[in-house]
Amino acid sequence: MNRAHFSGWQLVSLGLLAACLCSLNIGCKGRTASVPASVPAAATADQPATAQTALVQEGKRIFDETPKHAGDFVGNKLACNDCHIQSGTAKYAAPMINLAGLFPMYNKRAGHTISLQNRIQECFARSEAGKPLPEDSRQMKALVAYIEWLSRDGVKGRPYEGRGFVRLPKLTGNPVRGRIVYASQCAGCHGSDGAGVPPVLPAVWGPDSFDDGAGMHNPEKMAAFVIHNMPQNNPGTLTPQEAFDVSAYIHTMPRPRFNEAYKNY
Ligand code: HEC
Ligand code: HEC
Repeated sequence: MNRAHFSGWQLVSLGLLAACLCSLNIGCKGRTASVPASVPAAATADQPATAQTALVQEGKRIFDETPKHAGDFVGNKLACNDCHIQSGTAKYAAPMINLAGLFPMYNKRAGHTISLQNRIQECFARSEAGKPLPEDSRQMKALVAYIEWLSRDGVKGRPYEGRGFVRLPKLTGNPVRGRIVYASQCAGCHGSDGAGVPPVLPAVWGPDSFDDGAGMHNPEKMAAFVIHNMPQNNPGTLTPQEAFDVSAYIHTMPRPRFNEAYKNY
């Protein structure tokens, strides 16, 4: 991928931008189009639509376009899919595969045992800079149905091999060097102001990004996410030191404050 091609991105219109990214098969939510095919078809001759199938599909839509379908509980412009890549199926991007059977589990941050619903609420309150999705809401039931569907082959208690993020040696990031990495490898998509072009290209800082209580708001975690998944058009090309440097730089930037009222999540 020739990076020079991307230098004019911020100049073209959003429509053109999205089309251009899609045609390159990058930065395009449409690239997750292969996933719906594996979600049970709504209605085929030999498999009539069931209420459960519809719920799974609705859950995937909420996962992919969270601000659109659960907007009352989202404070930024991120979808679950922006971090849990490819609709929660990409390895080492905290996938949802075979996850449901691991709950209930002890949660260090909360200090007690939590359900899958509680874990989803945690990402709403922190990663989505919003508020906990009510347990009895239609959206919660749909998200749980989708995650359970992605967990259908799981053996209870045994985690998926690609769970979480890759392991990195613990390095110290240098934000001054990170600024250079960001400008050359990230700003083309996420913008020199970190704002991206939501919902196609997510914000990495500023009001449309995750809050300072989020899991991604941790230089080590972000480095581990970035080294395996970013730059999205050329993943796996940064050194561990570069991944730590660029996350240290991103961590010097402003973002929404976590609402302490939700600290149980
Ligand atoms: C800003 C990025 C981001 C967004 C957006 C986000 N999450 Fe997360 N999520 C994380 C991180 C980071 C973790 C912790 C992964 C780890 O430490 O292994 C996590 C963990 C999880 C887990 C537990 C995974 C595990 O392996 O235990 C679930 C379930 C989850 N998120 C659901 C969601 C849902 C549903 C949404 C959308 C409503 C969402 N997340 C939005 C970053 C995000
Ligand atoms: C080609 C465009 C592109 C480039 C270049 C790129 N990203 Fe991303 N980034 C994306 C997209 C699109 C997503 C949403 C997940 C997905 O669909 O892959 C994303 C998601 C993210 C996220 C999680 C969501 C959020 O907004 O916080 C972080 C953090 C991130 N990128 C950091 C980086 C860093 C650091 C670099 C440079 C090393 C980089 N990205 C380069 C397109 C890009």
